Amino acid sequence: MNYNKKTVKDVDVRGKKVLLRCDFNVPMAKDGSGVITDDKRIRAALPTIQYLLEQGAAVIACSHMGKPKGQVKPELSLKPVAVRLSELLGQDVIMAADVVGPDAQAKAAALQPGQIMLLENTRFEKGETKNDPELAKAMASMAEVYVSDAFGAVHRAHASTAGVADYLPAVSGFLIQKELEVIGGALANPKRPLVAILGGSKVSSKIGVINNLLEIADTVIIGGGMAYTFSAAQGGTVGDSLLEADWESYANDMVKKAQEKGVKFLLPVDTVIANAFAPDAESKVVPTGSIPDGWQGLDIGPETVKLYCDAVADAGTVIWNGPMGVFEFPKFAKGTEAVAEALSKTDAITIIGGGDSAAAVQQLGYADRMTHISTGGGASLEFMEGKELPGVACLLDA
Ligand code: 3PG
Repeated sequence: MNYNKKTVKDVDVRGKKVLLRCDFNVPMAKDGSGVITDDKRIRAALPTIQYLLEQGAAVIACSHMGKPKGQVKPELSLKPVAVRLSELLGQDVIMAADVVGPDAQAKAAALQPGQIMLLENTRFEKGETKNDPELAKAMASMAEVYVSDAFGAVHRAHASTAGVADYLPAVSGFLIQKELEVIGGALANPKRPLVAILGGSKVSSKIGVINNLLEIADTVIIGGGMAYTFSAAQGGTVGDSLLEADWESYANDMVKKAQEKGVKFLLPVDTVIANAFAPDAESKVVPTGSIPDGWQGLDIGPETVKLYCDAVADAGTVIWNGPMGVFEFPKFAKGTEAVAEALSKTDAITIIGGGDSAAAVQQLGYADRMTHISTGGGASLEFMEGKELPGVACLLDA
């Protein structure tokens, strides 16, 4: 797939209406107060928005939020995003009451250069996730240029992320450009050695990533809950730890593939186990593969930490996706913390896949010491799997 795409700088947007797809799918407080608990994705869209406004474009921004499945769900309205965006931009953000309905159409028609409006949650429309051409056409009819900066949603072939590109000249914003350059660069032409650290709870959700990174990386490191499936596959006892028994043979295949390819494949050598899945559970360290019944692994052990940190120290590039343990519980966050610290100290290019690992790095205070923290969870994972991203494929080639 070609990642060399035209950007906002390659089109003339002066005086034009620009449909801008952002990923404003931000976490909200659970109490329904409309408080945004992390505005990182809104901030990440600012450079493109500010550029478009400065160039004299009229910006019609849009995004999905959550999974309303074609229903209008007030708790998933983008109104709080409009408020936050307006605070960050220091200018009014006109909020539409619908996506392509009469209010959106009227406000878009009246929008002036230098002004910005926000459409309602694109997933309030049934046609959005079906990539319905009628919806795409209706969205496109409000604008003259389509700019996508929604990296977090480029793995979705939806009306607002891909379909609209059939009706308008389509280019990327600065966020997508940066994500493609940094992650794409690390995958296509990495500064070596390339070390991939993969964690998280399930092997099944990382199959494609492990497989693809074994083709590219010099070292692949496994941590998190999925390590127990590897351990069981090698004949170890894992007690009550997370285990995907159906994936044991796949785990063995990956170990074999690493040997065949000459890729260093590091698995935990010791484990912090607990007598319950609780923040204050009793804990101890045991060698990998010897977890008694009634106990479960919740973090990598100190020997493993040393092994993994040493591997990171001489790396040219490190890609990290998925925590090493249950980092939400401070007692079981040490493995994740140590890896984050090692990444903050290395001279390597450090790329953090979105989702949990991005949250961990932020929570632990190492965010500014990383080369790049992706705004995409599923999107960065599918990128690392080597899959085609429909929201990128639809943009004009440079
Ligand atoms: C994300 O949060 O990863 C993106 O906004 C995509 O959301 P989705 O998984 O609901 O498509």
